[in-house]
Amino acid sequence: MESMNPDHSCHDVVVVGSGAAGLTAALALADKLKVLVLAKGPLTGGSTAWAQGGIAAVLAAGDTFEEHIRDTMVAGAGLNRIETVEYVVERAPGAIDRLVELGVPFNMDGSALHLTREGGHSHRRIVHVNDATGWAVHQALLEAAKANPNITLLPGRSCIDLITGRHEMRYSGSGRVWGVYALDEETGHVEAHTARATVLATGGAGRVYRFSTAPRGATGDGIAMAWRAGARVSNMEMMQFHPTCLYNLEVKNFLITEAVRGEGGHLKHPETGHRFMPDYDERAELAPRDIVARAIDDQIKRYGLDFVHLDISHKPPEFVKEHFPTIHEKLLSLGIDMTSQPIPVVPAQHYTCGGILVDLAGRTDLPGLYAAGECTESGLHGANRLASNSLLECFVFGEASAAHILEHWDTFDIPPPVRAWDESRVTDSDEEVVIKQNWTEIRRFMWNYVGIVRTTKRLERAMHRIQLLNTEVEEYYRHFRVSTDLIELRNLLQSAELIVGSALKRHESRGLHYTLDYPDTLAEPQDTVLVP
Ligand code: FAD
Ligand code: SIN
Repeated sequence: MESMNPDHSCHDVVVVGSGAAGLTAALALADKLKVLVLAKGPLTGGSTAWAQGGIAAVLAAGDTFEEHIRDTMVAGAGLNRIETVEYVVERAPGAIDRLVELGVPFNMDGSALHLTREGGHSHRRIVHVNDATGWAVHQALLEAAKANPNITLLPGRSCIDLITGRHEMRYSGSGRVWGVYALDEETGHVEAHTARATVLATGGAGRVYRFSTAPRGATGDGIAMAWRAGARVSNMEMMQFHPTCLYNLEVKNFLITEAVRGEGGHLKHPETGHRFMPDYDERAELAPRDIVARAIDDQIKRYGLDFVHLDISHKPPEFVKEHFPTIHEKLLSLGIDMTSQPIPVVPAQHYTCGGILVDLAGRTDLPGLYAAGECTESGLHGANRLASNSLLECFVFGEASAAHILEHWDTFDIPPPVRAWDESRVTDSDEEVVIKQNWTEIRRFMWNYVGIVRTTKRLERAMHRIQLLNTEVEEYYRHFRVSTDLIELRNLLQSAELIVGSALKRHESRGLHYTLDYPDTLAEPQDTVLVP
């Protein structure tokens, strides 16, 4: 790393995000290049470390790429781009091999990997490490990155915006991306990290909703940064709601993995004990997520319930404890023994299917800018992500971005001198309450107006509120020194605007976008592409 001054450093490649996508890209790039990895908060702060169920790949005898491709397209309601689905599915077994080489201790079934099952999959196809796959995978990637002399890991950096042609000393105004401005969360200074190539791997925007399984930092920062710099985003209305988040007044975002249903768990009416999923879909509890989440939502609204029950207590206690040790322990600490009692669950936002539009090499619209993982719309997930295809996408696109950068390295110019961040906004906000209030307001109206079942009227109401808040937040942003909370609020609002804007443009119901005003699905699937 070449340090020019404390507030400006120049690198070969800057990767924003230390989750599965970012670390995979960094490790592949570090064979030849010097890479800086920036992360908001701690290195373990993204969704990757929280992943439970596992990673999908065709590994079972009798399973085929064609079936994984078909399952992905069926779950995605045909909105997926077939070339992306093929590209990812065919690379899945190789990605798992590399994780095994890194030392990820996947569960075994004799000498083969143990495969569990999740909704929408026609075969057992999910490799996993008990019910805490993400943590094990993330630790392995992190250890490898820490041991690599070509990788510098810099946590505690909240990136604010991309550096582009308009930040060059000799203003070119081009869309070329030269790195990022990042807030040092400890000192409060804003640093310019320039690079010949930049990879965004910042995760999703789940925290735009009041109830979400995602970690606090999932505020759509990368999507908002790319949008502000001029990149197109696509299919933002496709926000996935996981059917089974624990219903608990204190613990608001604990996921109960889909593998509980995959291993035989039933969804039941909490008072009558009626198993209701067969009434909605012949695949019952293993229908794709959008269908199961809508069925639960329907039960809750129809019967005025707070939650429904997920029950796996008919399985032997040893089986339950062996398959779900983390969840079993967590629930016990809350007074629920899942080996003998049902678990109260509700749907909650879980995954951002839309995002920065990328091609098969992870290229965005902007020269020098790549993106990988949950912040992107690669064409893999379409209108609804198939379970356990997300981590897979991170590995495949992390590697694809790195491969493209390495292959074309000669064409990447050295960054020009760029302007330092304008530190003239020296006033600290004396009204943190404004940020908190706005954040809460966004999350509430997004939950109430832009949730599982939508109407045009509710979407318009949400958009009206977003426009009012936009003026207030921009005013605030211009006057006060930036803080992580303010950066996140600005990005959360930008993400909300993109979600609602996309939802208003889709005049049909497809996958995760279900609206009472357009209940039919159009014959021709079409992406909702927003152009800045
Ligand atoms: P993340 O892992 O979310 O990492 C984002 C990174 O970007 C973080 O390091 C963060 O600090 C950084 N960042 C964000 N904003 C900024 C900024 N402004 N400046 C600097 N850094 C920034 N998928 C599966 O396939 N299988 C599963 O079993 C599974 N289980 C899940 C369980 C839960 C509870 C959740 C929430 C998700 C689950 N998913 C699962 C989805 C999957 O975990 C995520 O989609 C995936 O991990 C995203 O990885 P990522 O690298 O794109 O982003
Ligand atoms: C889960 O374990 O249910 C989450 C799997 C996923 O999001 O793919």
